[in-house]
Amino acid sequence: MKFYSRKLIKPEDLNARNTLFGGALLRWIDEEAGIYAITKLDSKNVVTKFISEINFISSAAQGDVIEIGLQFKGVGTTSISFSCEVRNLLSKQAIIEIETIVFVNVDDDGHPTPHNKTLDNIDIQRS
Ligand SMILES: CC(C)(COP(=O)(O)OP(=O)(O)OC[C@H]1O[C@@H](n2cnc3c(N)ncnc32)[C@H](O)[C@@H]1OP(=O)(O)O)[C@@H](O)C(=O)NCCC(=O)NCCS
Repeated sequence: MKFYSRKLIKPEDLNARNTLFGGALLRWIDEEAGIYAITKLDSKNVVTKFISEINFISSAAQGDVIEIGLQFKGVGTTSISFSCEVRNLLSKQAIIEIETIVFVNVDDDGHPTPHNKTLDNIDIQRS
């Protein structure tokens, strides 16, 4: 798992209980995962296809800093998949775990199209 970006929890990111709003967290994860897919596939025409069961493990409070981690899982003909973990930057307490996120490479009409990446030619080290 490689932790890429960090977020400071601000007032606008909170729910009615004044803890981190799950929707805000999912938005950040989707954006981070999209950037990850773009860099790995060398294509900006990627869309979120699938997000598996989401486990909200613990919360975060205003002023906390969280970090978003992604782990490459595999590539298919048009897709790329990875897992995700978000944790508190300082305590390392896990906040959310997602087993599988899948992005699909699409053409100008929005149809799946081969990304031409394989385990042999994809650069999984590139951030
Ligand atoms: C993404 C989209 C173009 C895929 O179309 P589709 O007809 O379902 O595509 P396919 O069935 O050919 O599958 C495409 C790839 O996705 C994978 N896939 C499809 N459904 C999947 C699922 N439920 N779980 C995991 N992977 C899945 C397939 O295995 C295939 O991968 P591969 O080519 O690497 O083998 C279409 O579903 C779509 O436009 N969805 C909306 C995307 C979007 O707008 N996302 C933003 C959030 S709303």
